[in-house]
Formats: sequence, structure tokens, C-alpha cells
Amino acid sequence: MTPFISVSLLLLLLQFPLPSISTNFEGNALHALRTKLSDPNNVLHSWDPTLVNPCTWFHVTCDSNNHVIRLDLGNSNISGALGPELGQLPHLQYLELYNNDFRGKIPEELGNLKSLISMDLYGNKFKGKIPKSFGKLKSLKFLRLDNNKLTGSIPRELTHLTNLKIFDVSNNDLCGTIPIDGNFGSFPVESFENNRLNGPELKGLVPYDFGC
Ligand SMILES: *[C@@H]1O[C@H](CO)[C@@H](O)[C@H](O)[C@H]1NC(C)=O
Repeated sequence: MTPFISVSLLLLLLQFPLPSISTNFEGNALHALRTKLSDPNNVLHSWDPTLVNPCTWFHVTCDSNNHVIRLDLGNSNISGALGPELGQLPHLQYLELYNNDFRGKIPEELGNLKSLISMDLYGNKFKGKIPKSFGKLKSLKFLRLDNNKLTGSIPRELTHLTNLKIFDVSNNDLCGTIPIDGNFGSFPVESFENNRLNGPELKGLVPYDFGC
């Protein structure tokens, strides 16, 4: 390489730094979430966006490649709404937000969390529908949405989740019928109680959203 070419190359690199070196994609997503939340107990105090990654922040766990795999914010007295940025954590396996004061809709972007094993949103004030996009969460084993203010019917897309072991939507305001396909054949009645659901789906006889 001639000196001229290497100097030009250096200038080019300085001008366009490689994204993997210069950005903190997952930390930025989490910090964007923090700015929307009210946190009277200062649980998110350690979430310093100037650090190179979020792996030293309390309630955040990373794998050996510094990718965020857990978010543990259960019982934290946090209030506010979630935004689309939470869908930008492609390695996240555990999303634990239970027993807080989260409000507003569940973002459909959570359906982009391809690695998710457990989503616990129970014990909040989430309203609106269960996103159909959750049908894309192929690794999901635990989905607990109970004790919120969710409405609409149970998305039939959830019957495609072959790994789902625990599903709980009790104590919401859901309507329509209960799916019977896939793993829905094995969930107990307690998972569905205290809603406006009309019992198991009667295919061909009654539309699944009957009563909605
Ligand atoms: C939760 O936050 C509220 C303020 O929004 C405060 O009054 C209350 O004491 C907190 N509860 C707990 C258990 O820390």
C-alpha cells in the first residue's frame, strides 16, 4: 500500500466508523425506554448511557458477547408506557416486567424478540390487544399477561408457538372463544378465568371472535 492510499483509507475510516465499534445499539434502546418511564424508587439509577455497553447496569444481564439476554424489572414500582425500542434487543431471552404500573398498549415490536424464552408482563395496567406478532416468538416457553386490562380476542397466531408451556391471560377483559389448537389443548382453565371469554372454540359453528 502506498502512503497516499493508506492515509486516504485512514481518513475514510475516521469519517465512517464501523457501526460495531462506534455504537451501543442495545444500550441506546434501553436508555430510550428509561427516558419514558417514571421510576420513583430509582431502580434505573445505574443506567448510564455513556458507558460502552449496558452490561454493568443493574437489572440487565448480558451474555459473553455483551448482548443483553435478561431484563429483570419485576416488583420495581415503575410506571409508564413501553415503546417500540424494546423490540431492538435481538438476543433477549427473559423480559420480566411483572407487578409494576406499566400502562398503555403492548408494543407489537415485542414480536421481533426472536430469542425470547419468557415474557412476564402480569400485574400491570396494560390495555389494548395482545399483539398478533407474538406468533413469531418461536422460542417462547412462558407467556404471562394476567392481571392487566387487555381487550380483544386471543390471537389464533399463538397456537403456532410449539414451545409454549405456560400461558396465562386470567383477570383481563378478553372476549371471543379460547383456541383449542396446538399447545392450547393443554393449558388449564385457570389460565383464562375472569375474562369475557365464551369457552372453547367450536370450529365451524361459532366465529372465534364471537361476543367481541
Ligand atoms: C411507589 O411509588 C410511589 C410514588 O409514585 C410511592 O408513593 C410509593 O411509596 C412507592 N411504593 C413502594 C413500595 O416503594
